[in-house]
Amino acid sequence: MATSNRSPGSITSNRVSSLTKLMAWLIIAISMTYVVYSLNLLLNSRSCLPVHSSNSVKSSIMASDSSNSSQIRKNNHPPEKAPENHKTTSLSHIMFGIAASASLWEQRKEYIKLWWRPSEMRGVVWLDRTVKIKRGEGLPTVKISGNTSGFAYKNRQGHRSAIRISRIVSETLRLDGIEGVHWFVMGDDDTVFVVDNLVRILSKYDHNQFYYIGSLSESHLQNIYFSYGMAYGGGGFAISYPLAKALSKMQDRCIQRYPGLYGSDDRMQACMAELGVPLTKEPGFHQYDVYGNLFGLLAAHPVTPLVSLHHLDVVEPIFPNVTRVEALRRLHGPMKADSAGLMQQSICYDRTREWSFSVSWGYAVQIFRGVFSPRELEMPSRTFLNWYRRADYTAYAFNTRPVSRHPCQKPFVFYFDSLRYTTTHDTQAITVTRYSRHRVPAPECRWRMVSPAKIEWIEVRKKPDPLLWNKSPRRNCCRVMTEKEVGAKGVSIEVGECRDGEISEL
Ligand SMILES: *[C@@H]1O[C@H](CO)[C@@H](O)[C@H](O)[C@H]1NC(C)=O
Ligand SMILES: *[C@@H]1O[C@H](CO)[C@@H](O)[C@H](O)[C@H]1NC(C)=O
Ligand SMILES: *[C@@H]1O[C@H](CO)[C@@H](O)[C@H](O)[C@H]1NC(C)=O
Repeated sequence: MATSNRSPGSITSNRVSSLTKLMAWLIIAISMTYVVYSLNLLLNSRSCLPVHSSNSVKSSIMASDSSNSSQIRKNNHPPEKAPENHKTTSLSHIMFGIAASASLWEQRKEYIKLWWRPSEMRGVVWLDRTVKIKRGEGLPTVKISGNTSGFAYKNRQGHRSAIRISRIVSETLRLDGIEGVHWFVMGDDDTVFVVDNLVRILSKYDHNQFYYIGSLSESHLQNIYFSYGMAYGGGGFAISYPLAKALSKMQDRCIQRYPGLYGSDDRMQACMAELGVPLTKEPGFHQYDVYGNLFGLLAAHPVTPLVSLHHLDVVEPIFPNVTRVEALRRLHGPMKADSAGLMQQSICYDRTREWSFSVSWGYAVQIFRGVFSPRELEMPSRTFLNWYRRADYTAYAFNTRPVSRHPCQKPFVFYFDSLRYTTTHDTQAITVTRYSRHRVPAPECRWRMVSPAKIEWIEVRKKPDPLLWNKSPRRNCCRVMTEKEVGAKGVSIEVGECRDGEISEL
């Protein structure tokens, strides 16, 4: 209103002055929040250090494990049939570039040995300086990265090895003998890949186009601090051949433009942004920016193939009471038998005993008293701490649920221990994975219902399904056999594609 009138004018000016006061207070409040937040970031910036660039992780020295995998091999009779869906990409089309450092090599190489298949894979471990190489260790070729002392690095928290690591894709591309490569896949020396699932994921994409594929951090703050559009390096990421080619032509210039960035993966993302290529998110790559126990995450894996695990020195061993490497090696049996199904969750109920079951195939089975709905069980329980070592439910870029506190709702956990095969009437091989009870004291529960405490083992029957991911994503279904069929100390469960009309309900 353009009416100029004295008295309303003074009211207006009164209003203006109170508005000014209000604005001033608001500004002060906002700046305070900002200061507190920045302080918080600064104080926590030490814990930002290990972000991806594994070389800066002060890792606990992992017990090195000299036993060989013969025990596991015993279990694996028929190897998984070669998946028929890989029309475009197979393992030999992937060139791996592994970021490693000489100082941690002796421990970290044990992680690489867990997944590397010398006769089937191509790749190079890039180090900062020479290390002693033993013959016949079955590791990838080791090379020393080019001299990067000419590049500026101005981040106070990080380490300039980030520049060297960022250039791995370009350096690998310039090597001889990369004919027929469709994809360059980067990982850290503490990344463990489930390579058959990596192939499954990459096969979905046309390697003749520009693709930058990977996943985010679990930590919301890390994603804010770095980017929600960045492939975290430790979880591993893939770059298609033509994109790698385009990158190599501009990367050195690009890196010079971002001396203040922290790591190698944010430098990579900066160059991807210059190329205009967004991140294609595949949630099976796992950076695992968490501390403590991964159980909650591994027991409720998203409905997508498990591609990688990272920060294995930071988290507890994934199976109790064994070393980290031994624990991971235990996954070999299920991985070989049915990699597509590894860690895939299924949820079912025992009607007579009123128990809920959550199966993470090849890893663990949980029994809960009473009914937990699928929408609860498919959320990871917070058995882990955030990247700032706190229990904080707002910390994650996805939904989580609290660990149940009620003594009757504490799950009975059964960890995978062995795998065998059996055949059906139509002589098809079926995997039988056995899970044994994690013996921890169960709190006293006063509910008048059957206690799962007497159950000692669980057996899960599942037909290998290498073509699982050619179909639209859907959780498998599971069915609990009746007590009569297996006796009182065990439970037998069948896992497989849901039948017509079958859903997870009591
Ligand atoms: C590895 O396996 C072979 C035969 O399977 C055995 O002779 C050897 O002792 C094993 N090595 C270790 C370190 O367990
Ligand atoms: C790296 O290059 C710089 C000059 O750009 C040189 O001074 C330095 O000695 C080189 N380092 C190595 C290890 O070759
Ligand atoms: C852990 O392993 C050790 C040796 O392998 C064994 O003596 C001990 O009983 C195990 N503890 C549990 C809780 O299984």
